[in-house]
Amino acid sequence: MRTPLSNPKTLLLKYGIREVVDTAQKIKELDPTFVVVAENIGDPIARGWTVPPFLKENIIAEVEKPGDLSFGYSHSRGNPETRKWVTQYAKRFSPSSELDYENVLFTNGLGASISAMYQMLPKGARVLQPTPAYPAHSSMESFSAGAPSILYSLNPNNDWQPDLANMEAQIQDNPEVAAILVINPNNPTGAVYSAETLEKIVQLAEKYNLMVISDEVYFRMVFNGKTFAQMTEIAHNRVPLIVMRGLSKDLPWPGGRCGWLEFHNTHLDPDFKNYVDGIKKKILMEVCAGTLPQVILPRVYEHPDFEAWNKLYNDELEANANFIAETLGKVKGLKVNKIYGAFYMMPLFEEGVLNANQTLPIANEAVRAYIESEVNKPGLPLDQRCTYYILANTGICVVPASGFLSPFYGFRLTTLDRNDERRRDTYARLSRAIEQYLASAV
Ligand SMILES: Cc1ncc(COP(=O)(O)O)c(C=O)c1O
Repeated sequence: MRTPLSNPKTLLLKYGIREVVDTAQKIKELDPTFVVVAENIGDPIARGWTVPPFLKENIIAEVEKPGDLSFGYSHSRGNPETRKWVTQYAKRFSPSSELDYENVLFTNGLGASISAMYQMLPKGARVLQPTPAYPAHSSMESFSAGAPSILYSLNPNNDWQPDLANMEAQIQDNPEVAAILVINPNNPTGAVYSAETLEKIVQLAEKYNLMVISDEVYFRMVFNGKTFAQMTEIAHNRVPLIVMRGLSKDLPWPGGRCGWLEFHNTHLDPDFKNYVDGIKKKILMEVCAGTLPQVILPRVYEHPDFEAWNKLYNDELEANANFIAETLGKVKGLKVNKIYGAFYMMPLFEEGVLNANQTLPIANEAVRAYIESEVNKPGLPLDQRCTYYILANTGICVVPASGFLSPFYGFRLTTLDRNDERRRDTYARLSRAIEQYLASAV
């Protein structure tokens, strides 16, 4: 090309969750009988959940309304009535919230919010990301900055809580850090943070004059005795705060592509307000978020059956997660933390148990040759090697922890599968495969 089109920054866009899907697809091309058990995906619909009837009823009623308004564009920042409802919804959970509906912004899923937030940061301003990271956040932030992520640690020896000393050290060492990202409940670890932890994060933000971004897309999914602490309440009138919520996970309606940003405490700093105005302008360029999910959203969340649905969903997620943690917890060489929210778990390999000579048998010759060529690529992390063998040997697809910028070897699985028999079979086979893999070369 006269002017090169390939952008070297593309290398910063890393999405380990998709890489493993490509590997599974390639295996399927080589062996059409290959069956994938997709323990990698965070889509409840794909894992056997059906949406609650009141969601479908509301969609049908809206679609059939005379005037067809839900087929048109919505307001560029989101349907005003729904944004007003969001301010009341925020207040229900955080009574001190003074969120104005002009500070609620709807986007096409939180994915679009993530892009806009990082793209609108000025050159040099960085957002501290947790590690293990959620790749959509860490990659988009890194891509926008044109530099590797700046990370704070989540501690697997403390139920994956943020390591606050490490967080402060990273803030001190990296003066370009302008914000802290908190994902609570957490993807990929399933951790839920206490009010005390959030308080300490807000204190750090106050001390260093930082903004907090709180991704709460899983905030209705909390169990095993924990409750959700409200960042909105803790940060009220103290630090600039962006809260991210959406309907992908709790209804669940990921294909609806509907999420929203809440800009709290904008009066605290004109600089924060200017940044928020920039995000609103960026979203305006995208015209608007999809109309239908936005207009029915208040009716769906306010439906008398919502709470019963949410309880059933949480009860099942809790039981599934506890079964999986107990089963994998018996595998020698693995360290497994119980989860308290969302539907992700990240078992870790104990230090030193993985090496580059371990294998599992792969019956299909072409698949074996493909996997061997993949695992022998220079620099391939040892946990990725392990997950490739597990995939080819068992069909079970999990994502290596290294794909989440994790300093520890392990893998992330989702606890969503609603089929009891298949779940029991999956985790019995996964346990055996890991034991066999670890024993294949010591
Ligand atoms: C922590 C977190 N934030 C945001 C998203 C994106 O959600 P959406 O479907 O609204 O784009 C996800 C999706 O998995 C997620 O795990």
